[in-house]
Amino acid sequence: MPSPLADPVQLPCGLVLPNRLSKAAMAEMIARDNKPNKTLSDAYAQWSQGGWGSILTGNVQVDVNHLGSPFDPALHSEYKGETDLIAEWKLYADTCQKHGTPAIVQICHPGRQSFRIAGHRGIFANTLAPSAVPINLGNGLVERLIACIAWTTPREMSRADIESVIRQFVDAARLMADAGFSGIELHGAHGYLIDQFLNAKTNLRTDEYGGTPAKRARFVLELLTEIRKVVPATFCIGIKLNSADHSSATFEETMTQIGLLVDAGIDFMEISGGTYEDPLMMAHRDTQNENSGPVNQEPKSERTSAREAFFLEFAKEVRMRYPGLVLMLTGGFRSRVGAESAIRDGACDLVGIGRPAAVEPGFPLRLLDETVGDEEAVCYLNKAPTPFYAQWLPRNLIGAGAETTYYARQIRRLANGLATIAPALS
Ligand SMILES: Cc1cc2nc3c(=O)[nH]c(=O)nc-3n(C[C@H](O)[C@H](O)[C@H](O)COP(=O)(O)O)c2cc1C
Repeated sequence: MPSPLADPVQLPCGLVLPNRLSKAAMAEMIARDNKPNKTLSDAYAQWSQGGWGSILTGNVQVDVNHLGSPFDPALHSEYKGETDLIAEWKLYADTCQKHGTPAIVQICHPGRQSFRIAGHRGIFANTLAPSAVPINLGNGLVERLIACIAWTTPREMSRADIESVIRQFVDAARLMADAGFSGIELHGAHGYLIDQFLNAKTNLRTDEYGGTPAKRARFVLELLTEIRKVVPATFCIGIKLNSADHSSATFEETMTQIGLLVDAGIDFMEISGGTYEDPLMMAHRDTQNENSGPVNQEPKSERTSAREAFFLEFAKEVRMRYPGLVLMLTGGFRSRVGAESAIRDGACDLVGIGRPAAVEPGFPLRLLDETVGDEEAVCYLNKAPTPFYAQWLPRNLIGAGAETTYYARQIRRLANGLATIAPALS
């Protein structure tokens, strides 16, 4: 029987993804000048030949003053249609799409999660956020000290700040469309600025951008409306969003916000979860070891999709309420059987794959090859090794830090034409 993973998927904007496997966004941390340089393109040359149905780039920051990592590609100023800038990004777009896979640029503003050393604003300048809520890694002395060293307290965004950041997102989207990318994905997950607006814990505003789930969604809805005005109708606009625990107070609020995004005509929604304060997206589930469970999900006796996918239950709930929404589920997929099972269960339309893609850029070629047996169509990974000093660092920071650093190093190896090293199961 042919794999459902091989089915093409058409998005509402008309864009056709040739199969259901998506390379998930991973910050590459190799744009030393914060521009789409050759090293970046060299990494994407590998994924472009990997048989993916779509390639999501690592986050591109809409303002070089506010970066997620010091080496993120970013917009350096207002975009006025400069041809040399378009040419720079076009080279990157062409490399990603050379073999026919649509590439979607993830655009982002980190808000309060921008490290002091990340961005051209200076290490003492405040970050921007809907409200002045500092990062909280924990209440211990070490946790508080590290948070204080890593991040400044955010400044509550004024109306002018909000308008300016919306303009930056619109500029970024227009530049990506002009450069020939197939779409953009708004990074509304993992505690970055859009997520900060959506979330009641970080958005304490009482004006039209806060106070109710709908008002907290206003920022992202305005982004969507303004971007739609400047890009072609065929250009895809998706969003990555955090899931919420069914038992949590935020569950229904998140569903309300998703409903608003559906009404606004989002082309697809990627479901993820976690922030720096609680990095669920970097969870680790040793799928071969019955004793290692996920952070917050079903027991090991569940079906393979449930064992692998971190946010499966939430995706199913979204699917039930919004059946017309194209859903991507990312986090934990490591096998053909797991990915197929999520599709067959109707939990999602697209399967996002992160860490396996960093060590095996052609993973889909193996997953889609009918001559490869199910037991071989897997990429199980161990936890990334942690440095010796990790024992003194807050656990939440290590979880996210060790994984991202390790896999960013593998992406660099890909770019340099070196063999990648998977943290194999022992
Ligand atoms: C090195 C690295 C960088 C990442 N950068 C981003 C990013 O820029 N944007 C994003 O939405 N998620 C990012 N993520 C999270 C992944 O997209 C994905 O949600 C997460 O790795 C879980 O999927 P996986 O279990 O298949 O790895 C990153 C993950 C890694 C390992």
